[in-house]
Amino acid sequence: MSAAVVFEEYGGPEVLHLSDVDPGEPGPGQVRVRVRAAGVQPADSLFRRGVMRQFLPARFPQRLGNEFAGVVDAVGPDVSAPAVGTAVIGWAAQVCYAEHVLVPATDLVSKPDSLPWTHAGVLSASGQTAVTTLELLAVTAGDTVLIHAAAGGVGSFAVQLARRSGATVVGTASPRNHEYLRGLGAIPVAYGEGLTDRVRAVVPRVDAALDGSGTLEALQSSVDLVADRSRIGTIAFSPAAAHLGVARLSTQRSAARLARLAALSAAGELTVEIQQAYPLAEAAQAHRDLDTGHVRGKLVLTTEG
Ligand SMILES: NC(=O)c1ccc[n+]([C@@H]2O[C@H](COP(=O)([O-])OP(=O)(O)OC[C@H]3O[C@@H](n4cnc5c(N)ncnc54)[C@H](OP(=O)(O)O)[C@@H]3O)[C@@H](O)[C@H]2O)c1
Repeated sequence: MSAAVVFEEYGGPEVLHLSDVDPGEPGPGQVRVRVRAAGVQPADSLFRRGVMRQFLPARFPQRLGNEFAGVVDAVGPDVSAPAVGTAVIGWAAQVCYAEHVLVPATDLVSKPDSLPWTHAGVLSASGQTAVTTLELLAVTAGDTVLIHAAAGGVGSFAVQLARRSGATVVGTASPRNHEYLRGLGAIPVAYGEGLTDRVRAVVPRVDAALDGSGTLEALQSSVDLVADRSRIGTIAFSPAAAHLGVARLSTQRSAARLARLAALSAAGELTVEIQQAYPLAEAAQAHRDLDTGHVRGKLVLTTEG
């Protein structure tokens, strides 16, 4: 048997607990991965609380988690690569808080040796969301980009990737995160009343805005600052977005995107603060910390090898 975090009813972090599950055998096109690290993200909390139940209902006992890194420990009958023993980074829907996952062999890339498990385990969801959204907003050299919730998981990656594209980045966060944002390459600005004026005080214009906060304030300031509405997007669930004509952007995952993120991370050109790593058995505590809404960088669950 194998351990996995499950929940049997929607609710607070306390509904999460470890359970013995069958790790399963990989079918055609699949591999089984012994997970070493699994990233934690706000979507996991929304799912746990039942907020997404209309379009993504849980099937109790339900597993959780969308990103992982680990070692392939079994391969399906027709799978030639990756081989058993390969360290990989990958994604899978609502199963990754576990010792084992079964995944398509195509939804994986090799983990560079120099990349720690914790950092590898948090690349697939937040990292790929950052890549996708900057692509959708057509961020390019010479742009000035406003990123709301810049110190969070997606924001941390988006700031650095936008900077790599040659953009100037203004990032919003509370003052305790301003030094962190400077380290990532952003000009930090505090959110809260007067946000638009504070942004205007540090940059002459804003060409695009990516929102990870979902607040009316962030969306309104984006609309006030960016002339082209098609270059404003939010990744948060926010009723105000549609009202203001702001598009909701969704992540698109691909092995090519993930391989690029892994290579940049291994080269030390992309990083994220791991606010805290927790053993799998402490998933409920990780969710208590997640639910504060003030995580810097990423939270990650780890298992013994
Ligand atoms: N659509 C998609 O495909 C997709 C994919 C991934 C994530 N998401 C969504 O995108 C959002 C962000 O995800 P994430 O993983 O980056 O979240 P996260 O890591 O939990 O974000 C935490 C950050 O939010 C900041 N924050 C809190 N209140 C804020 C405010 N009023 N204004 C600006 N920043 C604020 C915090 O900074 P301080 O501590 O300094 O306050 C903290 O650093 C979530 O709603 C998530 O569900 C969507």
